[in-house]
Amino acid sequence: MKPRKIKEGVSWLGYIDWDRRLFDSLMPIPDGTSYNAYLVQGKEKTALLDTADPIAIHALQAQLETVPNVDFIVAHHAEQDHSGAIPDVLKKYKNAKVVTNPNAKRLLIDLLNIPDERFITIEDGETLSLGGKTLKFIYTPWVHWPETMCSYLQEDKILFSCDFFGSHLATSDLYATNEAQVQEAAKVYFSMIMMPFRVAIQKNLDKLKDCDISMIAPSHGPIYNRPDLILSAYKDWVSGPPKNLVVLPYVSMHDSTRKMVEYFVSALSERGVRVELFNLAAIDIGKMAAALVDAATIVVGTPTVMANPHPSVVYAVYLANAIKPKVKFASIIGSYSWGTKIVEQISGMLSNLKVEMLTPVISKGLPKEADFKALDNLADAVAARHKELDLT
Ligand code: FEO
Repeated sequence: MKPRKIKEGVSWLGYIDWDRRLFDSLMPIPDGTSYNAYLVQGKEKTALLDTADPIAIHALQAQLETVPNVDFIVAHHAEQDHSGAIPDVLKKYKNAKVVTNPNAKRLLIDLLNIPDERFITIEDGETLSLGGKTLKFIYTPWVHWPETMCSYLQEDKILFSCDFFGSHLATSDLYATNEAQVQEAAKVYFSMIMMPFRVAIQKNLDKLKDCDISMIAPSHGPIYNRPDLILSAYKDWVSGPPKNLVVLPYVSMHDSTRKMVEYFVSALSERGVRVELFNLAAIDIGKMAAALVDAATIVVGTPTVMANPHPSVVYAVYLANAIKPKVKFASIIGSYSWGTKIVEQISGMLSNLKVEMLTPVISKGLPKEADFKALDNLADAVAARHKELDLT
């Protein structure tokens, strides 16, 4: 892809990765991703904002062929999917300096062996004039690492946000034209990268209120030329109340747990509680993470494997605990044949979540009348809790 003009003197550079299916060897990205860099050319100086993942160096090199000089490489974030090509760009432009904050500088030295003398460090709120183009640096920690920051191009009112507001989505659209698709991808991204840091993100959102933003240019996924789309979504995801929703990840081996899950979904629906059901044998775990952004309750369904939860359930529960959703209630439904510790084990794995644990329902073998009655009681308890909180 050739450079794409956004405004006079401002261009998109980078690489659309249509084929990547796993990020950080962890996060499924079924729709690929992009590594966006931006070139800002003032009357006197030129700045490259971020670079790209090392696998995309060839694309960046080709795009920079006609750029005679880069004075500054602004590093918003030290993670290699944005910083990985910095050494290569520094080699090409011998006098270029990496502009970043002191925390990012330390990480970039550790991760990429960039020499100390190639850095200029800036403070929160400091500006850098390129001649008719002024970048203001805004520290925004924990979007996604502690050193992350944004740049605000004052004359064009563009916020360059790096991971903040990003989405893993490969598309030829420069802008977020298919808003529903972009918002869904951004929500998965938020759930797995940003959600654990909601308090810090709320502070960053508050900080951005001082900027008159006409465009948000993240380093993954399309640019928002209607920034309110993603700003209002983040506001809801970060600090909005949870919804009248149960997220139910489960695995079944011999149908006992599946019968319980199906009965329970029906029982919740009869009581006006929405359910998102995820069969862990067949899902993209990112979809479960995104559903947890809104859920008030998580109920985990598992059979017993050698007295323990099924390994796929262990992974899903570990992830749910790590990303710290807003859930307020939790429970467990499942089955066993000769013995089980699934309740103790799953309860212990949810220690990050400040939840009220509702009475689990565990069936010996196929569920029987008493088990179905217990599932009705659990559905009653969930519906009552959601009603008390007036969740919609
Ligand atoms: Fe897209 Fe945290 O790197």
